[in-house]
Amino acid sequence: MLALQQDTPNQPAVLREIPTPEPGPGQVLVRLRAAALNHRDVWIQKGQYGGLKLPCTLGSDGSGEVGALGADVTGWAVGDEVIIYPGVEWGDDERAQGRSFRVLGMPDPGTFAEFITVPVSYLRPRPAHLSWEQAAALPLAGLTAYRAAFGRARVQAGERVLVTGIGGGVAQVAAQLCAARGAEVWVSSGDETKLARALALPLGARGGINYNSENWGRALQAQAGGAFDVVIDSAGGDAFGALLDVAAPGGRIVFYGATLGAIPQLVLQRVFWKQLSLLGSTMGSPVDFDAMLALVNEQQLVPVVDRVFLLAEGDAALRYLASGQQLGKVVLSMLRT
Ligand SMILES: NC(=O)c1ccc[n+]([C@@H]2O[C@H](COP(=O)([O-])OP(=O)(O)OC[C@H]3O[C@@H](n4cnc5c(N)ncnc54)[C@H](OP(=O)(O)O)[C@@H]3O)[C@@H](O)[C@H]2O)c1
Repeated sequence: MLALQQDTPNQPAVLREIPTPEPGPGQVLVRLRAAALNHRDVWIQKGQYGGLKLPCTLGSDGSGEVGALGADVTGWAVGDEVIIYPGVEWGDDERAQGRSFRVLGMPDPGTFAEFITVPVSYLRPRPAHLSWEQAAALPLAGLTAYRAAFGRARVQAGERVLVTGIGGGVAQVAAQLCAARGAEVWVSSGDETKLARALALPLGARGGINYNSENWGRALQAQAGGAFDVVIDSAGGDAFGALLDVAAPGGRIVFYGATLGAIPQLVLQRVFWKQLSLLGSTMGSPVDFDAMLALVNEQQLVPVVDRVFLLAEGDAALRYLASGQQLGKVVLSMLRT
């Protein structure tokens, strides 16, 4: 089978022919139809991800058909259409993942390949309203967004929610999920064109602002009619201070990423005086995954696919994601032509 592998950091990912894996007991072979990129794949390619073990087939998100069943596997049949839980070994504590938890794709072989074997318990039916590419775009982004918004920040109907960096894959699903649950969703982006395009998409966002504009926090609160009960962010860095300003007294700021790195100076008085909660969130458990899928199916939500590349163009897809031009998910199709 063909697989896109990263051999060493800061080098192009390489497409190569490798043996097709065989499903062991309790495992299923999935013939992948599409896989989606996440920013994690870019961090790995740049050598900026903890615990690097290369070479490895990258990729955490996949949709496809069951190709073969390992010994003792019941409940699924060859040809069933599936998506894959994008984590490995969450553990039995819903509050946090266990020590052996890892994201699918490095060190375990990932989804940028024609086939993958996974434990049968990680399969879920493909949402029937989604194409292969849309279904592949959902797992990691949807899971991360769901846990951050509902597991951690406990977003409620009627609350005012700011989702920063709406160009991002997770951010877009977060906006969709929060709007679907009846929250008033507002967004930001560093790019005017992206912002305008995002506001035209059916994400449920009521308005937004360019976070590079002067006094954006005050202007956005004026638009929204007040401060934000919840802020969902993955940038951190020196952009974080402004989030403390736009959060309402008693508000929650939840972050699942640190694209801009560490927060240079966190003035704790601003946190405790406003009774703010700062919440970290990572991925999610299989329970979170099921809850996310239930909401997506019930509301017929569709993740935004920005661009589809062929597997053979995988390195170009990684560089496109790294360039930050995307609005939504970048997806690989396993079609050979
Ligand atoms: N902990 C977890 O489980 C987990 C899961 C998924 C992702 N992450 C992390 O979360 C981050 C986003 O992941 P992703 O896959 O959604 O990435 P992505 O699709 O590549 O999007 C990254 C987004 O970050 C936004 N951004 C850049 N500078 C910003 C700023 N100053 N303020 C606000 N937003 C800013 C950009 O939004 P605009 O283009 O609109 O400005 C950009 O689209 C990455 O750091 C990733 O590693 C963590």
